[in-house]
Amino acid sequence: MSGHVFLILAIAVLLMIGQPLRADAVERAEAEETARLLAKLLQSGRMVIERNQSLIDDPHKGEKGFTPELFEQQLVQEFRSRTGIDLTALPKAPVSIIIPPLAKELLPALVQASREVIRDAQVVINQRGIGYKNFIPATYGSQASARFSKSAHVRLKQTTIEPRNPKNEPDEYEASVLKWLAGRPRAEAYVSELTEEGRTLRVVMPIYYAKDCLTCHGEPKGDLDISGYPKEGHKEGDLAGAITVTAPLRETR
Ligand code: HEC
Repeated sequence: MSGHVFLILAIAVLLMIGQPLRADAVERAEAEETARLLAKLLQSGRMVIERNQSLIDDPHKGEKGFTPELFEQQLVQEFRSRTGIDLTALPKAPVSIIIPPLAKELLPALVQASREVIRDAQVVINQRGIGYKNFIPATYGSQASARFSKSAHVRLKQTTIEPRNPKNEPDEYEASVLKWLAGRPRAEAYVSELTEEGRTLRVVMPIYYAKDCLTCHGEPKGDLDISGYPKEGHKEGDLAGAITVTAPLRETR
C-alpha cells in the first residue's frame, strides 16, 4: 500500500471514530456561545443602569421616563455595540454559528426578564424626594438573573466570594474558580468547563472593579457606603466577581 493511500485511510478511520466526539463538541460550543452572549447581555443591562444612575437618583424629579421600553432600546444598542448582534432582528435571523438556536431562544427571554425588573421598579424609580433608591447595576443584575433563571433551564447568576447579597453566594465550583481568578492578573477571557461527567457546562466570566465602583466597594474598608453596606477596601482592577452560567448539555447518544 502506498504511503498516500494509507494516510487517507487513517484519516477516514480517525474521522469515523471522532464522530460522536464531534457531536458533543457542537453541543458544547452552542451552549458555550450562548452562555457568553447571556453574560454579555446582563453586563449590557448593568451598563445601561449605570449610565442612567444620576437620573434614577434625582430627588427633584418624579416621573423619570425610564420605562421598560426606553431601557430595552438602550439595552439593544449596548448589546449591539459589544457583540455586533441586533436583538430586534433576532426573530428573523437565520440560525448560524454566530447565533445558535439556544441563544435565539434565551437572549429574548433575558430581555423580557430585564424589562420586568424595570417595570416592577417603576414606583421606586419615580419616587420624588429621595436620592439613592438602591436601584443600581448590582440590584438589576441580581433580580434579572433570578427572574430569568426561574423560567429558563439555564441558570444565570452574579456572584463573588463573600457577597453582600446572600443570594449571590458562590457554589463550590464558582468559589474555586473565583479564588483561582483572584490570584492572577486581569483576564478578559472566561473559564468554561464541563462538570457532572460532562452533563453540565459551567461558564464563569470575571468582572473587575473600575474607578466608579470604588465609591461603594473601595476604601476606607469598613466605612458604610451610600447603600448601607461596609466598603470592602478594593482597588481599581481588583476582581469584583463574575457572571456565571450553568447550562445542562443535551444527551448526544
Ligand atoms: C452605590 C453603591 C455601589 C456601586 C457604585 C457599585 N456597587 Fe456593587 N453592589 C452594591 C450593592 C448594594 C450590592 C448588593 C446588591 C444586591 O442586593 O443584590 C452590590 C453587589 C455587587 C456584586 C454582586 C455580588 C454581591 O456582593 O452580592 C458585584 C459583582 C458588584 N456589586 C460589582 C460591582 C462593580 C463591578 C461595580 C462598578 C461597575 C459596582 N459593583 C458598583 C453597591 C454598589
